[in-house]
Amino acid sequence: MSTTTHARRQVLAASEPAARDDRQASLREYVMCRPDHFTVAYAINPWMDPTRPVDTALAIDQWELLRAAYLSLGHRVHVLEPAAGLPDMVFAANGAFVVGDRALGARFREPVRTGEAPAHAGLLTALGIDVAAPTAVNEGEGDFAWAYGRVLAASGFRAEPAARAELAATFAVPVVPLELVDPRFYHLDVALAVLDERTVAYYPPAFSAESRAWILGQFPDAIEVGPADAMVLGLNCVSDGRHVVLAAQATELAGLLSERGFVPVPVDLSELLKAGGGVKCCTLELHRPVSPANSDPLHPLGSAEGSIRTDLEI
Ligand code: ARG
Repeated sequence: MSTTTHARRQVLAASEPAARDDRQASLREYVMCRPDHFTVAYAINPWMDPTRPVDTALAIDQWELLRAAYLSLGHRVHVLEPAAGLPDMVFAANGAFVVGDRALGARFREPVRTGEAPAHAGLLTALGIDVAAPTAVNEGEGDFAWAYGRVLAASGFRAEPAARAELAATFAVPVVPLELVDPRFYHLDVALAVLDERTVAYYPPAFSAESRAWILGQFPDAIEVGPADAMVLGLNCVSDGRHVVLAAQATELAGLLSERGFVPVPVDLSELLKAGGGVKCCTLELHRPVSPANSDPLHPLGSAEGSIRTDLEI
């Protein structure tokens, strides 16, 4: 842990003892895709080694536990039909970027993944979302993070800088450019997590000096994560404002989250890590208000901790 992080934590402990129980969860709506056809058949990021065996049945079991975790927190999960021949389709976060009733569709960088985009667009359209066709390369929430009124939009390895103008045009919100510099952290969502309106967690070495300075300037309480947590994709986590679903292996980050009043919910996705993916990669969030009116009758949203979110209409 860096000295600055340590100093900040001491200040927090001294001045904000009540924060622990203040965190409010809000109901969320996700798209997931079961890893029925998951394998590592090619290498398009440094995590992937096609010679290493993959246990697809174990991947499915681990994914089911992730889905069960969301449902137990009261969230809504739409399941996209997996397609044979698209082994990375489990990483639903890459399928689009959705705010309100609009989406910017994905345009994958690698031809091996291009077939995923129309499947996502079809599901989103069926959910009443207007999907704009992209021109520049973008892999949805892989490189774009909704930061409550603005979008953090990374480039460096996957999304093209030109995708930022398409985001701004589609959603009419400010778009903040960030630059990724370490190929192991090829998407923004493996290097930074937005935990609530005021808090992010991130791995500083994954970013250019300019991006690091911007993050710290905007989020002075940012949680800095070390290499041990970053290398198990601990930052590839999903927050509902209170609960943070994250890799079970990211134990130090879980401790930091607890100190800040978040509730870590560990899930083991070790098989999916072989493709360079984790919790967040498996989860596309529809950033729109969730109400019991559009809930799945099989999985009612009456979570005791949930509150209906009304802040995301644009
Ligand atoms: N094997 C996939 C790829 O390299 C992993 C994608 C992970 N998704 C994410 N949102 N980071 O494209």
